[in-house]
Amino acid sequence: MSTPLDNPKTRVRVDVNGRVMVRDVECRKHLVDFLREDCGLKGSHLGCEHGVCGACTVRLDGQIVRGCLVLAAQADGHRVETVETASPSRRLKALQDAFVEHNALQCGYCTPGMLMAALDLVERRPDANREQVRAWMSGNYCRCTGYHAIVDAVCSVLAQQKAGRFDAAAEGAQA
Ligand code: FES
Ligand code: FES
Repeated sequence: MSTPLDNPKTRVRVDVNGRVMVRDVECRKHLVDFLREDCGLKGSHLGCEHGVCGACTVRLDGQIVRGCLVLAAQADGHRVETVETASPSRRLKALQDAFVEHNALQCGYCTPGMLMAALDLVERRPDANREQVRAWMSGNYCRCTGYHAIVDAVCSVLAQQKAGRFDAAAEGAQA
């Protein structure tokens, strides 16, 4: 017979995409499960659940992490961004458009994690060359596309960025 002590819960307060989520979660629950089951944000996917495939990639206090390797309890008091935060980000929107344009997704299962990893690259390594893009994205697995189209898409957004497309001063909008 199970008792409450078999699955102890803890209260967490997490800023998810700018909204504070207060939930009672099992201490053992992973961040990606918290996002999907307790916050209703299904964009982050579960693939391997071992920290290998990258389908669960989200940002925790601005750093990309594997949502399947972080406990929800560890995110207590912290800020999480998921692919659902896409709308306010012009870079993420540009990446989404580039993925479509370059046919960089087929089943789409890996795509949310790919987009979050790519967004991190575009923001942190604006001068990355094609080989560096390939190396950066190598932490995310795709079983459909063969990767070339994904690298093409990311490189195209880097090129747009270099051309000033996301300069707030140039377009008078938040990048
Ligand atoms: S589900 Fe987290 S890395 Fe694969
Ligand atoms: S598009 Fe199917 S796994 Fe990447």
